Amino acid sequence: MKKLLSPSILAADFNILGSNIEAVEREGADYLHIDVMDGSFVPSISFGMPLIKSIRKRSSLFFDVHLMIVDPVRYIKDFVASGADGITFHLEAERDAERAMELIHSEGKKAGIAINPETAVSALGDDMIKKADMVLIMTVHPGFGGQSYIGECTGKIRELRTRAEKLKPELDIEVDGGINKETINTVLDAGANVIVMGSAVFSGDIGEKMRFYRKVLG
Ligand code: DX5
Ligand code: ZN
Repeated sequence: MKKLLSPSILAADFNILGSNIEAVEREGADYLHIDVMDGSFVPSISFGMPLIKSIRKRSSLFFDVHLMIVDPVRYIKDFVASGADGITFHLEAERDAERAMELIHSEGKKAGIAINPETAVSALGDDMIKKADMVLIMTVHPGFGGQSYIGECTGKIRELRTRAEKLKPELDIEVDGGINKETINTVLDAGANVIVMGSAVFSGDIGEKMRFYRKVLG
């Protein structure tokens, strides 16, 4: 299964965002992880459609949009129009996850479901897993970058990979939060294959960090 690196621009320097994105793209990022926060589903507010529209003009990376917002279905069309390639919403924020994925698919985009650290993998029904292109297991409480990996989440990654082997072998399992050189091998061994990294990639020398993690992913 292909292992993909998805740098999170939440940790980028917004003063020079375009060149930060160019740097990860040049060094072989697979996706660009874009965290949208509404100050309601999570305590913080980040950015939204205008920013995505603007960076879309300069980047051909797969835009992996992570919606940490209430009632995400309201905005699916807007995020598609802004340039999203994949849209991941939170199970905790959406009453009809299957319908939400159908809407994303009807726009020709990839659909992902995210679960918070306190949400069990069993909250995802078999049909949801079959319909999803990706499931995002949050490995920190969503809302802020730079937090520490929550060790209890490793078992959830393993549990989901085991279920996916039966239900949907090609399911992408993304992990997000606290992934760095100390934790990356743990999540890969447990069965994650899409790795989000914010502070680990955007702090210090981006090129050097990207080359290091590209090698780890193989
Ligand atoms: C947290 C966001 C993450 C964040 C990860 O709510 O969803 O994508 O950018 O940041 P790091 O890698 O620094 O933990
Ligand atoms: Zn995220």
